[in-house]
Amino acid sequence: MTPQSDSIAVVTGGGSGIGLACASALSARSVSCVLVGRRQERLEAAAATLGASATVVTADLTEPGAPERVVAETLAAHGRIDVIVHSAGVFEKAPASQVTPDHWQRVLDVNLSAVMALTRAGWEALSQSGGQIVLISSIAAVQAFEGNAAYAASKGGLNALGEVLRLEGRERGIRVITLSPAQIDTELWDGKAPERVRARMMPAAGVGELVADLVGTDRRIDIGPVVIRPVQDPWVEPEP
Ligand SMILES: NC(=O)c1ccc[n+]([C@@H]2O[C@H](COP(=O)([O-])OP(=O)(O)OC[C@H]3O[C@@H](n4cnc5c(N)ncnc54)[C@H](OP(=O)(O)O)[C@@H]3O)[C@@H](O)[C@H]2O)c1
Repeated sequence: MTPQSDSIAVVTGGGSGIGLACASALSARSVSCVLVGRRQERLEAAAATLGASATVVTADLTEPGAPERVVAETLAAHGRIDVIVHSAGVFEKAPASQVTPDHWQRVLDVNLSAVMALTRAGWEALSQSGGQIVLISSIAAVQAFEGNAAYAASKGGLNALGEVLRLEGRERGIRVITLSPAQIDTELWDGKAPERVRARMMPAAGVGELVADLVGTDRRIDIGPVVIRPVQDPWVEPEP
């Protein structure tokens, strides 16, 4: 089933970047979005750009019980969940030898464990709606970059989780889509890439459109892991 006009999408990381771009594109297709993140003001400002149907649930998804609360509040307000877009994530870099236990745990907690917890919490509701799960993974899951030990481990784990969910979801009528993008110009790159490099990254809005299009495709199509990249490596200076 493709999303109907009464469809409800829970979008984690919906207050910024790719999550907000996904919510924006889904809203344009008449899907009501529930934006999830830690910063309430940021979420409310984002929701205001989406129209009256968008709502927010403020939650740190790594806190015990938070994913279950997100699902409970969404069901209490809307009665159903058709899509969960998992876009909440953190990007922290350090050489592997300098990754502290805190760094490792924080990245794994947000990028992998919280995704599993929210998926588990929402599984029954998605089974009832014949819903869909979108995992915003990363090219780092399949391509090595220096300084990415924890991030790559979290996203590699996410891709592997996505494949298991894709199989198990079939039995419950749930479609799972794993998207592994390379560089997208969002605030995740603040302080990590200069403006001229960011200008060559993919636009978040285009990625949001892609996600909404994938969610809207015929449900008889099983969508394997999807890798997207900028046409040219943004870190490579173009020929003068
Ligand atoms: N930008 C890229 O080049 C790129 C490429 C590949 C994959 N990705 C992935 O895309 C996803 C979105 O990143 P982005 O580029 O859109 O960057 P972003 O704007 O920094 O988005 C990250 C979002 O995650 C939320 N978040 C972080 N920790 C959270 C927590 N504990 N609980 C709930 N929400 C939390 C943040 O909201 P709060 O701070 O309000 O909680 C924020 O809205 C991430 O998973 C990232 O790994 C990004």
